[in-house]
Amino acid sequence: MIIFIIFKKKFLYIIFIKHNYVILFTMNIINNIIIKTIPLLPKKVVKLIADNYVAGIKPQDVLDKTRFLNNKDYEVTIDLLGEHTSDKNTVNKITETYLNLLKSVKEQDLIANISVKPTHIGLDIDLNTFSTNAEKLVLYALKNDNFIRFDMENSSTTDNTINIIKELNKKYENMGTVFQAYLKRTYSDLSYFLNDKTNFRLCKGIYNESPGVAYKEYIDINKNYLKIVELAFKRNSYICFATHDLFLIDEIYKLIDKYNVSKNKFEFQVLYGVPMKGWLQKHLKNNYKVRVYLPYGPEWYEYSIRRLKENPNIAKHVAKSIFSNRKY
Ligand code: FDA
Repeated sequence: MIIFIIFKKKFLYIIFIKHNYVILFTMNIINNIIIKTIPLLPKKVVKLIADNYVAGIKPQDVLDKTRFLNNKDYEVTIDLLGEHTSDKNTVNKITETYLNLLKSVKEQDLIANISVKPTHIGLDIDLNTFSTNAEKLVLYALKNDNFIRFDMENSSTTDNTINIIKELNKKYENMGTVFQAYLKRTYSDLSYFLNDKTNFRLCKGIYNESPGVAYKEYIDINKNYLKIVELAFKRNSYICFATHDLFLIDEIYKLIDKYNVSKNKFEFQVLYGVPMKGWLQKHLKNNYKVRVYLPYGPEWYEYSIRRLKENPNIAKHVAKSIFSNRKY
């Protein structure tokens, strides 16, 4: 049997030739096979995969990993894995866990803030529960010189998340949310939202949104991303570039030069475990701040499976990460 592997225009083609039969797999088919087989794999095997992306299960696991990254000059944002929690007691316990994490970060002299998903602390229950828990975290963070980042989830949550953040922002500055460059509404949202006190993370967006609300093509998403970066620079906002796209990062470097942006008005952010081909060290050499998004928690299994089902394209990143070295 002869096997050809061709990587062309972001697609991986695997061709098997045997006894005059030609079988062609594209990465899409492979993605689907991976997604169907992952739930059948023993949990131990999935753990091996998840270990590339997740700091551990217990709070001390993530605190230890944070110290390791801090010692290498990276700052951290800690995320307790989980989302879409509809039980009020659980939601309150999760909020407590975050408060304890903030306490430990302070006590252990670590450099880490918190990233939290709105539906993990009450948005699926009602606006009031989310807003109350969000304020609890922001207030406690304020007393401990820390910061809370509210992740952005799928587009059904965008309005509610932005509205609550806007309200809280009237009282507190040690908090911010995330905007997704793939959403067609984002540029206009930010035109109203951004000022010199705003602190926001810009990512492409991870959920599988419809073409009605989201750009689907790589080139359109990147164009929007860079348009938003320019808007942030013009408004003198604090922007966190959350991307692993090296082309995009190169363009961001050019815009930083073009607008002569001060180093204290931006930072680069990456997900723990994603290989960056030396770019993290390059950022540090330039004295640019780098923050690693570090997820942990007992829900690592459910989280990995759900993410894969939501967006099958992640499968190829998982596969890739097993074969590449992480360099911190
Ligand atoms: P793109 O998908 O084009 O990937 C660029 C390159 O990076 C590719 O070549 C790929 O190989 C590599 N790569 C990307 N992701 C990888 C992975 N997981 N493993 C291995 N390689 C990978 N989304 C959201 O909707 N709401 C949010 O709040 C956040 N928060 C967030 C925080 C931080 C710090 C980051 C880095 C990302 C997010 N995201 C997010 C996820 C984001 O929206 C997006 O889905 C991923 O970052 C992938 O998009 P890239 O910008 O990296 O580009």
